[in-house]
Amino acid sequence: MKIGVIGTGYVGLVTGTCFADSGNDVICVDIDEKKVQRMQNGEVPIYEPGLNRVFDRAIREKRLHFTTRIEEAFKESEIIFLCLPTPPGANGQADLSFVLDVANDLGDLFNKYPGYKVIVNKSTVPVGTADKVKEKIAQKTDTEFDVVSNPEFLREGAAVEDFMKPERVVVGTTSEKAADLMTTLYEPFVRSGNPIIIMDERSSELTKYAANAMLATKITFMNEIANVCEKVGANVDNVRRGIGTDTRIGKRFLFAGIGYGGSCFPKDVQAIHHTADEYGYEFKILDSVMKVNESQKVSIVDKMKLYYNGNLEGKTVGIWGLSFKPETDDIREAPSLYITEQLAKMGVSMKAYDPEAIETFKEASSDETLSKMQFVEDRDSVIDGVDALIICTEWNEFRRPDMDRFAEVMNEPVIFDGRNLYDLDRARDAGLTYISVGRPSVNI
Ligand code: UDX
Repeated sequence: MKIGVIGTGYVGLVTGTCFADSGNDVICVDIDEKKVQRMQNGEVPIYEPGLNRVFDRAIREKRLHFTTRIEEAFKESEIIFLCLPTPPGANGQADLSFVLDVANDLGDLFNKYPGYKVIVNKSTVPVGTADKVKEKIAQKTDTEFDVVSNPEFLREGAAVEDFMKPERVVVGTTSEKAADLMTTLYEPFVRSGNPIIIMDERSSELTKYAANAMLATKITFMNEIANVCEKVGANVDNVRRGIGTDTRIGKRFLFAGIGYGGSCFPKDVQAIHHTADEYGYEFKILDSVMKVNESQKVSIVDKMKLYYNGNLEGKTVGIWGLSFKPETDDIREAPSLYITEQLAKMGVSMKAYDPEAIETFKEASSDETLSKMQFVEDRDSVIDGVDALIICTEWNEFRRPDMDRFAEVMNEPVIFDGRNLYDLDRARDAGLTYISVGRPSVNI
């Protein structure tokens, strides 16, 4: 099939590349000329495991092309994916201006190149957006077309895998013609028998928000259980194993930590809350989820204050991990941003390392915070001579360090672990003071 993808952010690029890999001809469009040039030269502009390999293959086989002109992608394509940014607007509602501006252009192009096409909303958009896009295009043209909602469920760091082997594909359309085309396009990805679920546009749009809000709630619930564990002297690891074996609850996404971050959960929880509000419904549980997550992100700072009796000024602290989760350079809404900001304000000096996210972290942080930070090239240099170590992200390389080295090279072997990486007995044997999330503190 011939496919157009408008917007080559993380969703658009993964979508375009994976469709090209399954034998389609794909033209991706972006307004950023430099980025388009880089991609034309075979460069992948984002860090996403496995993407380079699939991208190189698609380019080599001449099935993946890049342009700055929507028209070029539009002419030939049967299906056009809109993968445009929908940033949070002034009032918490997603800003649709990018999507609607492109819809406007599509209307003109339909007049220039008449013929049936399917326009697909792939970005996460508020309920009712398919209708809005349809309306915008229909203002310009009489040509037959359909607008379909097809939310992505891609985890950063596992996006290629999630795209290639989706647990489900959700397609929101009431048009049989569009549903057939979308089914043909996605069939190669669900050979293992996973479903393509066809539903109406609004339910599909809401499905995306419901999935992310449910997952954010699940994590937040576990974070609150962890906070209770700390109070009553229980261990959240045991509680997690105890409840996760109930298949109604499930084992995944039950890991307590320093809160969820990233580009999706915070934005989507806020957006569905806002949509409900607009329709006169108060989504109370999500109020709490947002509030709890905010305080969870800096819970480690509260633990440090307690440990040092409020006296953190002049301390030097090491930081392992800056990205909001492993295998990505994304630091959007990462707990590290909030933790470092608060520590800098309290006069703490920091030495930080992350395998991928140092540059993105620097771009997102204030000069005030950065003036208290030094960045190093490897995990081990962080801990030399520091008064404590904070673990913000569970990168694999932090999971199995030489436990004896902490006591050898740190001023004091104190670890505040926001991701529960170490076994409590191992920490005790290594002589560490070890404070984690929802588990008894060691050597305190
Ligand atoms: C998420 C959804 O999983 C994906 O389906 C959606 O389309 C986009 O948003 P992503 O933001 O890449 O993907 O991250 P994900 O792996 O889901 O993790 C989200 C956050 O939850 C991270 O901050 C992570 O650290 C946190 N998390 C996850 C926990 O704190 N505990 C867990 O048990 C799982």
